[in-house]
Amino acid sequence: MINKLEKKRSDALREHIPVMRPLTAKLLAGVVEKLRPKETLEIGTCIGLGAIGVLLAGGKKVTTIEIDEDRYFAAKNNLEEFGLFDRCEIILGDCKEVLPLMSENRYDLIILDGPKSYYPEAYPYLKKMLLPGGILFADDILFHGMVETNDAPAHKHRTNVNALRSFIEIAEGDVDMTVRKFDLEDGVILLTKRG
Ligand SMILES: C[S@@+](CC[C@H](N)C(=O)[O-])C[C@H]1O[C@@H](n2cnc3c(N)ncnc32)[C@H](O)[C@@H]1O
Repeated sequence: MINKLEKKRSDALREHIPVMRPLTAKLLAGVVEKLRPKETLEIGTCIGLGAIGVLLAGGKKVTTIEIDEDRYFAAKNNLEEFGLFDRCEIILGDCKEVLPLMSENRYDLIILDGPKSYYPEAYPYLKKMLLPGGILFADDILFHGMVETNDAPAHKHRTNVNALRSFIEIAEGDVDMTVRKFDLEDGVILLTKRG
């Protein structure tokens, strides 16, 4: 199953589909194996490989949000192919609209992997939705090396880079969280909510 997942990942990356990259996916699988989350929320489903990875690593249930209809159906097909569809709820919608409606739900693990410009705005919701001891796994925080440099970002990346800088500052300044940063691939930050 893992080999099949990794084959799908490399095929997708070759086709420039923005699935989670392999070392980041491995880090996530390690987090899941340790945490054994009952409830996981993922922002940004893409074609479902992140959700499949969580379920194969020992997560019980995943709820995941995707705005793009073609990717939503591709994710549904992939989860069915792996026999995991009954453990995953895929919500087709804009996370900016959906998240505020879900704010009473609680999760052991939240994967933030959707629109980068939304990370700072999403943070208060996600913090509230995270159970004590739970982990927020935010991907792409270094945005191709553009975040942790003093250089001004190119105009077309400015919104994302500024949002990610602001997200990191908020997260690192949050006394309710312990923070670990991983400088691998596009960068990951792991925030554990203090119990
Ligand atoms: C980096 S990909 C997610 C990769 C996935 N987590 C994985 O493990 O392979 C980001 C996804 O977020 C989706 N997305 C972008 N804006 C969104 C929004 N406002 N609401 C929900 N999903 C969104 C994109 O369509 C894309 O599929």
